[in-house]
Amino acid sequence: MQASPAIAAVPAGAGEDAAIVIEDVDKHFGDVKALRGLSARIHYGRLTGLVGPDGAGKTTLMRILTGLLVPNAGHVTLAGYDVVKDNDAIHVASGYMPQRFGLYEDLSVMENMRLYAQLRGMDADRNADLFAELLDFTRLGPFTKRLAGKLSGGMKQKLGLACALMARPKVLLLDEPGVGVDPVSRQDLWRMVQALTDEGMAVVWSTAYLDEAERCESVLLLNQGKLLFDGPPQELTAQLEGRSFRLEDVGAERRAVLTQALDLPSVSDGVIQGAGVRVVLREGAQAEQLQALSDQARVELAQVPARFEDAFIDLLGGGPGGTSTLAERLPPVELGSDIAVSCRNLTKRFGEFTATDKVSFEVQKGEIFGLLGPNGAGKSTTFKMLCGLMKPTAGEAHVVGHDLRRATGAAKSRLGTWRRSFRSTACSRCSRTWNSRPASTDWKATPGASALPR
Ligand SMILES: Nc1ncnc2c1ncn2[C@@H]1O[C@H](COP(=O)(O)OP(=O)(O)OP(=O)(O)O)[C@@H](O)[C@H]1O
Ligand SMILES: [Mg+2]
Repeated sequence: MQASPAIAAVPAGAGEDAAIVIEDVDKHFGDVKALRGLSARIHYGRLTGLVGPDGAGKTTLMRILTGLLVPNAGHVTLAGYDVVKDNDAIHVASGYMPQRFGLYEDLSVMENMRLYAQLRGMDADRNADLFAELLDFTRLGPFTKRLAGKLSGGMKQKLGLACALMARPKVLLLDEPGVGVDPVSRQDLWRMVQALTDEGMAVVWSTAYLDEAERCESVLLLNQGKLLFDGPPQELTAQLEGRSFRLEDVGAERRAVLTQALDLPSVSDGVIQGAGVRVVLREGAQAEQLQALSDQARVELAQVPARFEDAFIDLLGGGPGGTSTLAERLPPVELGSDIAVSCRNLTKRFGEFTATDKVSFEVQKGEIFGLLGPNGAGKSTTFKMLCGLMKPTAGEAHVVGHDLRRATGAAKSRLGTWRRSFRSTACSRCSRTWNSRPASTDWKATPGASALPR
């Protein structure tokens, strides 16, 4: 994919050193120190990841870069302009896609684009070619009449991107563009961003997803307003080499083994991964305690390549210990059967449209089960039926032995649900996944076994 000349017409970065220079920036909201002494440089022709957990200060920094917020201390330039003093120039030089969908859901794709152009002082009629190119670039051409509110998550992000690119910026700031976007659309977004950086644009992509961070050429890693790392993600991962291990085929005991591993002084972090347990050692620690644990559990211990996630958690001071305050407070769940949730031929039709089509699966006691699928696959509809929030058109569903069609109240009382709001789920940590093309069950697998169907 190539960005058209009209989109990337600005010879971004020619002869300039850094697209963004951040010097000693502080930002406070009352007592909250959102950014603390931040200094960094962001370069043209490069995709820079702004990475950090919730509340790290990513959005605050993005808003300072676009001149929407004024820092309490420090100095920032973007494309050579002072973000506080040269607000108008910053507005022209930067394109910003905010974290929440900032467009009008009750206007069509085209109406949103026209409105956005007008707000930027552009004459939409005179820019028909640019519109056509943006629609072509984002592959939104066939959907110009569709209401923005009716677009899938990925299409909404592409519309946001089209609007952010409208003024042909030198610097593109994307705040968590990958949230709520399925892997196929996310791939599309990556390709577009790649095309833009190839043309010389500086692109900043903020994220709390570490797989996204790993794909950036360079990352700024923030935590609680402080910059912890600045450089290529592989450089950070390399610092952890030799400290990542896997206890293989632990099976049903994996929860207990993980707890014991996390309580070892030599262990920095651990996580259940399929049937095994992945463990990261603290800096300078040896693997003896871990070896003793694997001998005791009679499972194999293997050294595995470090991952960016290992390095990230380690940099944040390691993961939580083996004891969970929440688990200690919650009474143990008594189940009469080994099957916690089951559904057979579960189907939901909305008029002509079948959202969930004859879906069957079982979730065992103690299992983390992933529902994986692209936007529109039927994940939320299946969830709503399993939670008793939506009546199935056909099929059966049981939660802890209660029939959801007859004993909805009893089944609901045994369920804790967490509805999707801002985050979608990556399934690499699930012990098993159900994977689907829109409205059908295609296959079941353990994670890592395959890729999404295209
Ligand atoms: N307008 C505001 N008023 C008060 N506190 C704020 C405001 N905006 C941000 N904060 C606080 O500043 C800190 C950084 O928030 P920010 O939104 O920048 O984090 P983030 O990294 O973007 O997080 P997320 O991943 O959740 O979007 C948080 O503690 C947040 O509660
Ligand atoms: Mg944010």
